[in-house]
Amino acid sequence: MKKMNIGMIGGGFMGKAHSLAYAGMPMFFWPAPAIPYRKTVVDVTDELAKEAAERLGFENYSSDWRQVVEDPSIDIIDIVTPNDSHAEIAIAAARAGKHIISEKPLARNAAEAKTMLDAVKEAGVKHMVAFNYRRTPAVALAKKYIEEGRIGNILNFRGTYLQDWSADPNSPLSWRFQKKIAGSGALGDIGTHVIDFARYLVSEISDVMAVAKTWIGERPIQSGGVDKLGTVKADADVPKGTVDVDDEFSTLIKFDNGAVGSIEATRNAWGRNNFLTFEIHGDKGSLYFNYERRDELQVCFADDPGDSRGFRTVYTGPAHPYGEGLWPIPALGIGYGETKIIETYDFFKSIVEDTQVSPNFQDGYRIAVISDAILESAEKNSWIKIQGEQLVGAEN
Ligand SMILES: NC(=O)c1ccc[n+]([C@@H]2O[C@H](COP(=O)([O-])OP(=O)(O)OC[C@H]3O[C@@H](n4cnc5c(N)ncnc54)[C@H](O)[C@@H]3O)[C@@H](O)[C@H]2O)c1
Repeated sequence: MKKMNIGMIGGGFMGKAHSLAYAGMPMFFWPAPAIPYRKTVVDVTDELAKEAAERLGFENYSSDWRQVVEDPSIDIIDIVTPNDSHAEIAIAAARAGKHIISEKPLARNAAEAKTMLDAVKEAGVKHMVAFNYRRTPAVALAKKYIEEGRIGNILNFRGTYLQDWSADPNSPLSWRFQKKIAGSGALGDIGTHVIDFARYLVSEISDVMAVAKTWIGERPIQSGGVDKLGTVKADADVPKGTVDVDDEFSTLIKFDNGAVGSIEATRNAWGRNNFLTFEIHGDKGSLYFNYERRDELQVCFADDPGDSRGFRTVYTGPAHPYGEGLWPIPALGIGYGETKIIETYDFFKSIVEDTQVSPNFQDGYRIAVISDAILESAEKNSWIKIQGEQLVGAEN
């Protein structure tokens, strides 16, 4: 079976998730489109890169991503670095003719995302942006029900992404709180996953009306390295630096198809860990999903008998999207890793079958345009109409 060599840039949290997916994909989806081969991993120092290679199962390591991008034996460049380096790496990789998967958000803002989109289009390579939550089988099942008309015309989408790892002011000032590296705060980090859900499940977003807040204006400085996402607290005497990104945003939204709704995200909601949810109301039924109970889709169909109408739970399993590759009994339970395995499967399939997977850089760019509009709306205190190119025929 064909092997494809991976050059993975970054060996932190997402480096771990993607490596697990490369190892696991053929175990779940067989025959695999191709076998991912973990060829070279890159981190900022040789020491970190060597450790990443040993831990994550890569043959080689390097501290120079440019060398890996130019390596003729590499087929795919996987970008799992903080947001400020996505564009430079992706543009170089596209020019070198590599297929690219980049972590989300695609870039720090729409202008930067556009340069990446232009580069992959010009090079004719395959591209994907890693909004993996839409690959949760229950989310794909919601998409299937919507496409089959099971809930009729969509009236409303309510989406949230609430976490609490940054609610403590002593959670360090990692790269996620610095505009020059992250681009934005809760918006780019987690809100973009909900924007992806909204566009995937409902339709393109046409207008936003937002508020945004920074609750904790300074945090203890973390000197470089992997973001520990609030698991490490700084001592009281550590010098502090300024947070210049949003801690929280909420936005009303209007969709191209006439539906309306809202999206909100924060990392400061005590008690909420990974509360990524949507509730969708159609004129024939409703759907509800909560990632903290990711094997379940709550459904209510208007044509259910009146005396038993109400939300009920469908546990995803073999009868549902991706079920053929996952576990043989519903509710055995999938985890974060399986969403990355499915993402890897779909990306490899798109390369081997010469199709363009979604979400891709066009989606990533469009989500960046919407994110910029949310911040602009919050600043101007007014509705903003979404500008930018329309989507070009990507598969979902
Ligand atoms: N899809 C998701 O659910 C999800 C979840 C978390 C993070 N992310 C995204 O993944 C990306 C990485 O986040 P993370 O949580 O893995 O960060 P992290 O801080 O855990 O790890 C980043 C790694 O990249 C390395 N790095 C930084 N600059 C580099 C460079 N120029 N060359 C090589 N290595 C470099 C760092 O040393 C570190 O090892 C971000 O864009 C983030 O938004 C996505």
